[in-house]
Amino acid sequence: MAKAPAPFPQRILPDVRASKIPASIGIIMDGNGRWARRFGWERVRGHTAGIDSVRDTARAAAELGIKELTLYAFSVENWKRPRREVTYLMELLRKFAIDERAEIEKNGIVFRTLGRIDELPEKTKSALRESERLSADNDGMVLRLALNYGGRTEIADAAKQLARDAVAGRIDAESIDEAALAERLYDPSMRDVDLVVRTASEMRVSNFLLWQISYAEIVVTDVLWPDFRREHLYAAVREFASRERRFGGLVKG
Ligand code: IPE
Ligand code: IPE
Ligand code: MG
Repeated sequence: MAKAPAPFPQRILPDVRASKIPASIGIIMDGNGRWARRFGWERVRGHTAGIDSVRDTARAAAELGIKELTLYAFSVENWKRPRREVTYLMELLRKFAIDERAEIEKNGIVFRTLGRIDELPEKTKSALRESERLSADNDGMVLRLALNYGGRTEIADAAKQLARDAVAGRIDAESIDEAALAERLYDPSMRDVDLVVRTASEMRVSNFLLWQISYAEIVVTDVLWPDFRREHLYAAVREFASRERRFGGLVKG
């Protein structure tokens, strides 16, 4: 009798136990400018090249059985960049939202944004909203784009909502706990992140998902985002699988 096919992760990473595959990964996609400058090109070419990395990484993550992949695409601090670069990024994001619809549909991916989307240029905002709407009923991996996102902004916005709810009598101030705040984050359905990957060597968090990464394992790679491909994701997952997570407790045995 033919042997039943192994589940996806076993076929792709036979050396990693299925229970060691992270459910949720966040990626700080960094180094686009440095990548372009290496060739003497203007920085924005690195952003365009990074789209191929997004495509390959998202596909690989879905095949691995990752439940949620969150990509940091534009921080609330990134508005400080030259206007030309910001405008370029906003147009690239609009185009990405439209161009990837077929691929998202084909893979059953649920596409979501995370951040202050209402503050984005109208065309970018509407393209993103439409892609979210079209993929809302899919049942595959959740692919989130953190856009005009700041971890502090997200927590402050949740605190504001808590205050509103307390004033309106919807919640008793004394009952406010972690769960009450988490329910008011941008996407209350988002699970804690298990693994944060940062490309381009920088050893910092840069305001990414502060609440959700409390106990995430962090992997920093030298690879610049436009060079990042599925094998780099596999390497990060292998590294994650080799870590001992204690969550403040003690090792068994
Ligand atoms: C990451 O690449 C993309 C965004 C932050 C939008 P960078 O543009 O930060 O590239 P480097 O870090 O300057 O090389
Ligand atoms: C973090 O990268 C933000 C994104 C990847 C969207 P930055 O390049 O903006 O971060 P810093 O300035 O090096 O901390
Ligand atoms: Mg950078």
